[in-house]
Amino acid sequence: MADIASELSTAVGKAFEQFGLDPKLGQVRRADRPDLADFQCNGAMAAAKAVKRNPRELAGEIAPLIEAIDGVDEVSIAGPGFLNIKMTGDALAKQAIAVMADAKAGGGSVDTPRRVMMDFGGWNVAKPMHIGHLRSTIIGDSLQRLFRFLGDEVTSDVHLGDWGLQMGLLITEVQFEQPELPYFDESFTGPYPTESPVSMADLERLYPQASAKSKEDEARREAARTATAQLQAGRPGYMALWKHFCAVTQVGLERECGDLGVRFDLWKGESDAEKLIPEMVEDLKGRDIAILDDGAWIIPVVREDDKKEMPPFMLVNSQGASGYHATDLGTILDRKRENDPELTLYIVDQRQALHFEQVFRAADKAGYMPEDTLEHIGFGTMNGKDGKPFKTREGGVLKLHDFIQQAKDKARERLEEAGIGEDWSDEERADIIDKVALAAIKFADLSNVRTKNYVFDIDQFMRFEGKTGPYLLYAVVRVKSLMRRAAEQGVEPGTIKIEAAEERALALQLDAFESALKLAYDNRTPHGICEHAHALATAFSAFWSNCPILKDGVEPEQRASRLALAQATLKQLEVALNLIGIDTPERM
Ligand code: ARG
Repeated sequence: MADIASELSTAVGKAFEQFGLDPKLGQVRRADRPDLADFQCNGAMAAAKAVKRNPRELAGEIAPLIEAIDGVDEVSIAGPGFLNIKMTGDALAKQAIAVMADAKAGGGSVDTPRRVMMDFGGWNVAKPMHIGHLRSTIIGDSLQRLFRFLGDEVTSDVHLGDWGLQMGLLITEVQFEQPELPYFDESFTGPYPTESPVSMADLERLYPQASAKSKEDEARREAARTATAQLQAGRPGYMALWKHFCAVTQVGLERECGDLGVRFDLWKGESDAEKLIPEMVEDLKGRDIAILDDGAWIIPVVREDDKKEMPPFMLVNSQGASGYHATDLGTILDRKRENDPELTLYIVDQRQALHFEQVFRAADKAGYMPEDTLEHIGFGTMNGKDGKPFKTREGGVLKLHDFIQQAKDKARERLEEAGIGEDWSDEERADIIDKVALAAIKFADLSNVRTKNYVFDIDQFMRFEGKTGPYLLYAVVRVKSLMRRAAEQGVEPGTIKIEAAEERALALQLDAFESALKLAYDNRTPHGICEHAHALATAFSAFWSNCPILKDGVEPEQRASRLALAQATLKQLEVALNLIGIDTPERM
């Protein structure tokens, strides 16, 4: 279904054409002053300039043609030549009915679906998660939902950091604590134990321990480096141990993703690129794309018009090792072969912008993937009230599990304060607490402009009024309960008629969904979906207060119409919330 603004744009464009003017000038959008009009067209000013005429006069001549467009009620001219357009109630009703009937609740689809690869999550095996990983996961998940919803074929890949120095640190730390294990015995011929010698809790303890030791002790650092190199060269015992680290971490992460409601198609990691690196290095050397520079193989990526310093892409360093640059380039090659994406989005902390710039330029230069199909979707930091990256209450590193638990505790507190759900089963209450906690976290994150830093303030985010996740859940639950009561009373939704001002405003908001999603899609900013959901909930709230539905004395037709409008709102609100990863309860 097309929204009113785009249908009007076509029709108004034709009106402009009849005056020999560029139809593009007929572009119509929502009015800046909803009290004066529903839509506006600003093209008469530019048109008048082009044909050297008075803009108000020209607008006055075009206005009757616009007034003749199906669904247009009234056209007025404001200021220097703004064309203000008011629609008929019938035209708005038609749209609301279409939203109700549409499987996508008016959300639209892309014209040409693409194969899109999304790289997000990016946690590191054994290393503690930091706040950037949480934001990456939440934003990435919303984008995968949005792109899929609009019709793209999305593959999401968690791209675990499973191949760096932290692996050598861990191997040597395990060896220090349990030297008797067969993984360290080079004469051992296998098979290695199937049971992991370490748990997730062990890894969480071992890594910081190893990392601290290596900072103090050069020999310890060297041992970790050697172990890393031997692992990367395929030493069997280390490989077996490393597999345990990865498996243990993955189990933990999958559980936490489950808690967050986030799903990945692929659980690949940096190590999956490793097998491609030797052939890639040969290829790039052979085609003179990589050049030898001071013992290292680099790809120069600097360009004449660069405003900032652009160090070369490091393929193999002077010690013969390849690192983060190479694994990302190898991954591009791997994805090209396995998935052949037409677009790849990397949802990663803004602070890695230079890294991606270098990788994208190198990929382009190598002919692996055109630069304009690779995009870094950066984001700012989530800070604590002290303005520094958010930490746990104790000031330690953030654990996703603890973080979610804290949000749940807060949600429980809020529900108790509000006296909600006292007589519900423990199971239902727990489910609602989960939903409220996640809604608060996700909405708070996604409703910010992606690139900005923001302060995490759980008290603020957990409020039941204002621009918060819990407020939106509350709005949804209110409509659900209305629908239940209506069903109990045998009232059914009927044909929508738009009369009251609040009904008009609500119908216009329903009609604005497609363009909101399109904008969020084009800019890769879930923020726009949050704005729409909130505006819709607000419009519904005004409608709810001023347009009685089940109260005595409401005409049956009006009752059925308003109930249908509520149903359309519920449908669209649930779709919108789903796109930002928020699940709604039946009651709260
Ligand atoms: N593991 C990395 C980190 O913790 C993030 C990975 C991002 N994705 C990528 N393809 N480089 O910083």
